Amino acid sequence: MSLAVRTVGLTKRFGAIEALRGISFEAYEGEIFGLIGPNGAGKTTAFRILATLILPTLGSAYVYGLDVVKEAAKVREIISYLPEEVGAYRNLTGREYLNYISRVYFKGREAEETFEIGLKISGLSDEDLSRLMKTYSRGMKRRIQLARALMVRPKLAILDEPPSGLDPVQKSEIRGVIKKYARGLGVTALISTHEMYEAEAVCDRVAIIDRGVIIANGTVKEVIEDVEARNLEDAFLKYVKMKRIMT
Ligand SMILES: Nc1ncnc2c1ncn2[C@@H]1O[C@H](COP(=O)(O)OP(=O)(O)OP(=O)(O)O)[C@@H](O)[C@H]1O
Ligand SMILES: [Mg+2]
Repeated sequence: MSLAVRTVGLTKRFGAIEALRGISFEAYEGEIFGLIGPNGAGKTTAFRILATLILPTLGSAYVYGLDVVKEAAKVREIISYLPEEVGAYRNLTGREYLNYISRVYFKGREAEETFEIGLKISGLSDEDLSRLMKTYSRGMKRRIQLARALMVRPKLAILDEPPSGLDPVQKSEIRGVIKKYARGLGVTALISTHEMYEAEAVCDRVAIIDRGVIIANGTVKEVIEDVEARNLEDAFLKYVKMKRIMT
């Protein structure tokens, strides 16, 4: 299996705040990898570095062997990024937007197919797809942005909190969509979440991050069994507690 993501001692400081304190982890091609941790742990910071939006203070990060600092333009060609907060809603309908994005990435028949896939992933009704995106609810915006991130079949989809703001039915649909696209279209997915149930249901492997440090790492099963936990939520609480006692 080839390496999709590798970070080595990745460190990020914002003034006096050390958001990442030398994190190292690896995600392999074809897997769904979860960076999981509490609020403020450093998940979004790590993802923004991988998405070439901000620079690390120290350390390195690679996407399919490409250095995110020195080869940022090449990295951008093979990734898609779902930001934590999705803003900027133009005067486009959902259908127009997905059609436009399909044509930015592909031509002819392939663009047509991409558009169709996007419509499906969005899960929006014909009526909603005909409305302007600025009138969408938070959940609808999330769905359309997730459709954009997955339909173009990037080599790596960096998804920051994909289920954020969605209701239980939509969350379950999104789990299915991410699994289907990661497995079916060979899209490697890096997802972040603090919802352990989501992570357990979707991820092959996870790294638990707390206060800028990775405190556990492995398959979901290993991470659970290593601390004799009942599930990932229980394991997560145990790791965080153990680490905070030690530091
Ligand atoms: N631009 C910034 N300037 C200053 N501090 C920042 C900036 N971005 C993030 N931080 C700080 O870095 C730390 C990590 O933040 P980050 O957003 O990466 O956490 P997170 O794990 O994504 O949390 P959440 O689950 O709430 O999304 C926090 O202490 C945060 O306040
Ligand atoms: Mg975040």
